[in-house]
Parts: sequence; structure tokens; C-alpha cells
Amino acid sequence: MKTANVNGIRLSYRDEGSGHVLVLLHAFPLSSEMWQPQIAHLASRARLIVPDLRGFGESQLGSGLVSIGQYADDTVALLDQLGIHRAIIGGLSMGGYIAFAFWRRYRERVSGLLLADTRAQADTEEGRKGREASARLAEEQGAEPIANQMLPKLLSPAASADLRDHVREIIEATDPRAIATALRAMAKRPDSTSLLPTIDVPTVVIVGGEDIPTPVADARAMHAAIPHSQLVEIPGVGHLSNLEAPVAFNDAVADLLTVVARAR
Ligand code: MLT
Repeated sequence: MKTANVNGIRLSYRDEGSGHVLVLLHAFPLSSEMWQPQIAHLASRARLIVPDLRGFGESQLGSGLVSIGQYADDTVALLDQLGIHRAIIGGLSMGGYIAFAFWRRYRERVSGLLLADTRAQADTEEGRKGREASARLAEEQGAEPIANQMLPKLLSPAASADLRDHVREIIEATDPRAIATALRAMAKRPDSTSLLPTIDVPTVVIVGGEDIPTPVADARAMHAAIPHSQLVEIPGVGHLSNLEAPVAFNDAVADLLTVVARAR
């Protein structure tokens, strides 16, 4: 892992491969570790910049309130430090919410978008209440009950025991304060639906056919609203489609790399 000082914190990130840059933003409550199958297969095609979002993995949380926009600000500050002007911005689930924030704030820096197992809508009122209850649970009892709560939503019943253990390990290693902070940031995030028709860069929307938190219907709606986007539905896999079906996921990202290279 490499580190950079951005916006008052030490941010850890992976920097692998060479060529046009693909940034991969991880899901909640994981870390850059979840992108290992993509790093292994795509670093021969692109330069992958894969941060631990603040508070997650090895990155510092810092103090004060964090919004989803703050994670986008950290990402652009990292790109600035690396001298990277434009990149494909990819995110899965919470990473997708950050990709929308990135588009809202820094669209001139975006050469393509990868929106995996995510959605454009904001939370419902009921969803916000659930986030606050989970944030308190994390603050009072740590990451383990969050892992218990999240695992059935993150992986399909067909996922292997090894994958389940791997994801549990990442979640249980996460700082409970980062979990609570991210939950409150997600609860406050604005609706991004109105952004979708403004997206004019090559975009792929990927979704696991068995995704529960951000189901296929959400992906189809994003695809319908984003001009010239591609939709890739991966049957039989859940929310963490990049981990459950790395080959199909990597193929879809490789196609996006080709389209972006043609467009540049
Ligand atoms: C994620 O995978 O990042 C979360 O499921 C997102 C969410 O809770 O909305």
C-alpha cells in the first residue's frame, strides 16, 4: 500500500499497472481489499488507483463530519497529488454514490464511469432511520454485529464459505467509527437521479442478478436514464458482484476500457 496526505489525513491506496487511469471506490463497509480480483486481471490494461476511503482499511478517519462529497474530494486530491487529470471513476454501491458525487463536483476530470451494484436515488426516511440505528450499533458494539447484519445482503446464498469468511474478515477489521460515519454520510447523500441524463462519458452499469440492496430494477433505471450507457446483468450473483463473478465483472470493465480508449 502507498500513502498520501490529503485533506488533513493519511490516505492509503493501491497503485498498480500503467496506462489510462481507472479509480475503483469500494463498497460499505469494506476496503480496497475487495478489488483484488480486478487489480489482478486489469492492471495489465490500465493503471488502477484503488484507495481505502477515509477511516476504512489503513486510511485515517480524521475528525469532524464526513459527507459522501468528502470521499470524492479526497479522491480528487489523491489524483491531483499523482498528477492525474482525467480518469475513469468506478464504484460499487457506496463507491457508486461517491462516483455520482465526483461527477457532480469534478465532471471535467471523468473520462468514463463504472457504476456497479449501486443506485441514483437518495435514502427513504425509513432507510435513514435504519442507518442511524446501525451507526449506534457500531458505536456501542463494534463491527461484528454490522458484519452479521450486512453479510446476507452483500453475498448471494451461492457464495462460497471462503468468500463469506473473507468479506467478514474485512468488515470486522473496520474501525466502528468509520462505519458509523459512513452510514450517516450515506443517509445524508443527495438524490443523483437528475444527474443521470447529464452523463456524457462512456458508462457501464453492472449488477448482480440476485442483488438485494440495489436490485436489477435500479440498474435498469440508471441505464435507461444515462445516454449511451451499457448494462451488464450478471445472473446468479449478489451485491458484491465483482467478488462473486470476477470474470464476468472484469470482462465488462475491460469493454469499458476499450470504449474509453476509442473515445479519447
Ligand atoms: C454498500 O455495499 O456500499 C452498501 O450496501 C450501500 C448502502 O448501504 O446503501
